[in-house]
Amino acid sequence: MTEDVNPETLPSGEQPLESRGENRSQRPASAAFKEFMASGWGARPELSTERGAAAPFTAERRDRLSAQFPGQRLVIPAGTFKVRSNDCDYRFRPHSAFAHLTGLGAEQEPDAVLVLHPVDESEAPDGVTGTPGTHRAVLYVRPPAGRDSEEFFSDARYGEFWVGARPTFTDLETLTGIRTAHLDTLRDALAKDVGPDGVQLVVVPGVDEAVEAVVEEIRAAQDTGGSDARLAEALSELRLVKDEHEVAQMREAVATTIAGFEKIVGQLPAAVAHRRGERVIEGTFVGHARQEGHAVGYETIAAAGDHATTLHWTDNDGRVRTGELVLVDAGVEVDSLYTADITRTLPVDGVYTDVQRRVYQAVLDAADAAFAAAVPGNKFRDVHAAAMEVIAARLGEWGLLPVSVEESLSPEGQQHRRWMVHGTSHHLGLDVHDCALARRELYLDATIEPGMVFTIEPGLYFKSDDELVPEEYRGIGVRIEDDVLVTVDGNENLSAALPRDPDEVEAWMARLSAR
Ligand code: GLY
Ligand code: MN
Ligand code: MN
Repeated sequence: MTEDVNPETLPSGEQPLESRGENRSQRPASAAFKEFMASGWGARPELSTERGAAAPFTAERRDRLSAQFPGQRLVIPAGTFKVRSNDCDYRFRPHSAFAHLTGLGAEQEPDAVLVLHPVDESEAPDGVTGTPGTHRAVLYVRPPAGRDSEEFFSDARYGEFWVGARPTFTDLETLTGIRTAHLDTLRDALAKDVGPDGVQLVVVPGVDEAVEAVVEEIRAAQDTGGSDARLAEALSELRLVKDEHEVAQMREAVATTIAGFEKIVGQLPAAVAHRRGERVIEGTFVGHARQEGHAVGYETIAAAGDHATTLHWTDNDGRVRTGELVLVDAGVEVDSLYTADITRTLPVDGVYTDVQRRVYQAVLDAADAAFAAAVPGNKFRDVHAAAMEVIAARLGEWGLLPVSVEESLSPEGQQHRRWMVHGTSHHLGLDVHDCALARRELYLDATIEPGMVFTIEPGLYFKSDDELVPEEYRGIGVRIEDDVLVTVDGNENLSAALPRDPDEVEAWMARLSAR
């Protein structure tokens, strides 16, 4: 299917390259056709919009951001479409900072820009203009074009004839609780009162080139700066502690992901029978994610046998063999865009061999030690350190370390990391690696606080060509990854309903296979 318009020509008579895609077919250009297309439609179908459950929470999040940027105008774009092949786009996903501050989720809303306007001391604190010293939020959006417009039937990205009903200003205002304005007024709104002694303009970098260019132009003309990096950092840090609504979304993402793992177990015989069994696993999970949520939060890893020792194995084009393990690292991103991030390493035929179980148990013990350290008052870095003590100790017991366990654990050693080069934990939320731009003192060196959500995911990976490990370990890769909510007096394993103890994994697989 193609957007169908008549080719234009340059004065030279040649057709410009950018309109060559239109050579596939012809759309009528007659006035009669356009007039006919604009007529005869019943009432425009309305979206049934009500206030989103996130709205009270996003208002509080915007207030917390506002307090950090007095007198600055904050520009937070959703982003625009990204081309994946010639004239086809990737499915639209708004930038996570935009989703966090508006509550908008899947497919919402291409090209929209949230602006927090500083409220001047001279403005009346009348509830419309806002309280002086704070910010007033406005969402700039591109509304649907009327049915009398050419866009309606000719624009494959925005026309409702092509993409279905799009939200109006009222729809978005109702949903988000944020005032809306036409995107065409954005430039003037951004430029108002900007100057060396006036308002500073800052934009989230790397989200929407066109919006960034407008901001740069205004800043250059008005000879004023503003730290975009500081805004990006603040937006990341704003998500370090999740609110009640976010935790509810994470619970949903985790529960939906666990249901996906159950479906995978049911499909293991089909995976073994297929020449690309890993794709059977991936396809099962991705299909489930699309049916039950928005998508997956990251590319699914379905890594059988030695592929499990490739940390981000996403080719998933290998065989799945009985007698081997399969490592599945997968997360459903729900419609609000929060994602789970869970890994289980399963015996393909439902029973771990002795050596598989030995490696698995070491990883599980490391995870348990990490859980014990993931409590308020400890440092985030303590979680990794606790896991590493167990990993190094086991590798020492097995005679794999070239130095003592103590020496390996010292900063000058670290030999044990050959078999687990990745970290043990990362924050989780709207992004799988959430809060990634937070300062080190608020991430690795931070004190753990209630409301933080992060992963615990130790592993051990013995590559098949690793000559430093005995033959029996080669080709075994194990990771166990859970999603953890820090509570006032400890933590809750959000993914506890998915078995992780090896006996329980075997019993769970047997139960599912008997269905
Ligand atoms: N799935 C990516 C990660 O575990 O960080
Ligand atoms: Mn992870
Ligand atoms: Mn993962």
